[in-house]
Formats: sequence, C-alpha cells, structure tokens
Amino acid sequence: MKEKLYLGIETSCDDTSCAVYSPDRGVIAHRTAAQLDHEKYGGVVPEIASRSHMRSLLPLYSSVMEDAGIEPISLSGIAVTNGPGLTGSLLVGLSFAKALAYGFGIPLTGVHHLEGHILANALTGEFVTPSVVLVVSGGHSQLIKVDRPGLYEFLGGTRDDAAGEAFDKIAKMLGLPYPGGPSLEKTGKNGNRNAYDFPRALKNSGKCDLSFSGLKTSVRLKFESIEDISDKIIADIAASAQEAIVDILAIKSKMAVEESGVKRFYIAGGVAANQRLRDVMLERLGAGGIKVSWPEMRYCTDNAAMIACAGYYHFSAGKVDGLELNTFPRGGLGSWVSE
Ligand code: KG4
Ligand code: ZN
Repeated sequence: MKEKLYLGIETSCDDTSCAVYSPDRGVIAHRTAAQLDHEKYGGVVPEIASRSHMRSLLPLYSSVMEDAGIEPISLSGIAVTNGPGLTGSLLVGLSFAKALAYGFGIPLTGVHHLEGHILANALTGEFVTPSVVLVVSGGHSQLIKVDRPGLYEFLGGTRDDAAGEAFDKIAKMLGLPYPGGPSLEKTGKNGNRNAYDFPRALKNSGKCDLSFSGLKTSVRLKFESIEDISDKIIADIAASAQEAIVDILAIKSKMAVEESGVKRFYIAGGVAANQRLRDVMLERLGAGGIKVSWPEMRYCTDNAAMIACAGYYHFSAGKVDGLELNTFPRGGLGSWVSE
C-alpha cells in the first residue's frame, strides 16, 4: 500500500516553514526559514513578513520535497495554517497550498495554528488524551482540555498580553536583544529570582484566566525607579519577571488539571522552550502525580511539522477543505469532531 505522506505549510507570523510527515515514520523532512529582518525593529513588521514569505516559500518547499525524495503526486494531503495570524503572511501560505492542491489534485485542509502547537506533542512522543495543554507563545496563552485530537475545550486564557509577549516586551524594556524570551531567560540565569516581588495577576480569581499587562507595567516602574542600573540589577529583574510569569502559569495550570481530572499535562508553543517553566511544571504538577511533557525544542516554536501532523488527524477523520478556504486573523480553537 502507498505510504501516507502529508505536506505541512506554516506562514502565520515570521517563520516560513515546510515539512513532510508520515504517520508511520514521523517527520521525513522539515525546514524553517526564520526572518531576521525584524530584529532592528524590535518586533515583527507585517508587511516585511509577508514579502519575505513570498521570497522564501517556493525554494523552501522545493528543498523539503528534495530532502524527502518525493514528487508532489506522492502526497496524500496538504495541511496549511489558515489562522490565527497576520493576514498577509497567512495568505502567502494558503495561496501556495491551494495552488499545489489544485494543480496536482491533492486534498487540502486548513489548520488552526493552536491545534498545530498542541499536536506538536504527538510528533516525537505519545500524545495521551484526555489531557490539558498549556499553549504559551508570542500570540497566545491558553489552557485547553483535549479529549482527543479534534475535541477541544477552552478552560481559560489571557485577558491581554500573551506570556511570550510579556517576555518579549520586558526584555525590550531591559535593552535585551530580540527575540526577548530566550534573551530574558539567558540574562536571568545570572540573577536572583526572588530579588523583586512582581505581581501574579488574577492569582485568586478562582478561574483559569491570566493577565500579563500589569506585570509589564510593574517591571517598567521598578526599572525606572532605580538610578544606577547595573548588569546585576538587570539580571535580577529578568529572573524575577520570569519567575512571576512561570509562577502564575503553574498556579493556573494546576487549577486546570485539577478541575478536569486528567492525569496528563503538556506544554506547547514557543515559551515551552523555557527551562524554568519546564522545571516548575515538573515539580508542582509532578508532585500531584501528573505526568508533564513538552515537544522537542525545534517543535516548540513555529514549525510546519506540527501542521502536517495536525493535517494527518484531519484527513484521517475526513476533514477536507475546498478552494474557498479563507484565512482568519483571530479566533479560538473550536472542535471539529463531535462527542
Ligand atoms: O510559538 P512561537 O514560535 O510563535 C507564536 O506563535 O507566537 O512563539 C514565539 C514566542 C516569543 O514570544 C518568544 O519570545 C517565546 O516564544 N520564547 C520564549 C523562549 N523561547 C521562545 N519565551 C521564554 N523563554 C524561552 N526560552
Ligand atoms: Zn506559534
């Protein structure tokens, strides 16, 4: 029987990524082109991002197909992120996917970016359900109960900034290089995480909701109140700010797990790369007998392998989209199977 192979395409923000996934052999080929042009602006510039996707996508796709040693006709399906994200960027990926699907007569499916992050956990390990997944990235901070792939329940999320956004903005404030998450983590390694007691917003709300905008202000006020800023002070602020983010994420994750009565917990999204977050989750949830896992590093941040993997679940369940498929800039992850 012909091997099932799925192409994934991801262009929702500033990474252009293509991958080929086989349910039997895992990720066959995977390449991501990170855009460095945004660095000097300290954040992603949408117009630059979409133009860069246009330049990178075709050569990247060709290289991935060459790495996989296959022709388009061998593909059983094409999965593409169609939202949420930057409209211009999403449109580049979606138009390319549609052209391939139409030209070669291959089925197409649109994937919600968050579903991709969640199912990244199935790429290199066993993804056990029911479970709770904390999706923490530059654009999202959500706790989602997964009954099985396709059946999702939103438990809570941020009211304002995403966790990754908080990392990025605080790092920028401290003069650390972009992207802020890894910089803040690195700088904080030399600091004392108990030096400053930054707020844990909504700690006692009794719900799984989150908020990071107050933390950002609190860090700014502290930073501006200190006259002689030394490397030691910057390291202490970085470590303390990271601790505040990690602590509140752990508190709310524990609540979500207890409320849903699951035994498995996963972290997903770019912030899952943070070692302190992993350590604290292992310690606190592990103490209650909850098994905690996260995807391999290269599948934590934006990548097309997770989209191809989500595509496999879609196609297996017959979830195929037509050429009228459109992008969407915002919107939560809905279920696509019924109970
Ligand atoms: O999932 P992702 O690649 O893109 C989005 O969908 O947003 O996540 C990027 C986010 C950025 O905010 C980045 O600063 C954060 O993940 N990030 C980290 C770390 N590595 C990446 N945050 C904290 N610690 C890290 N080590
Ligand atoms: Zn992402």
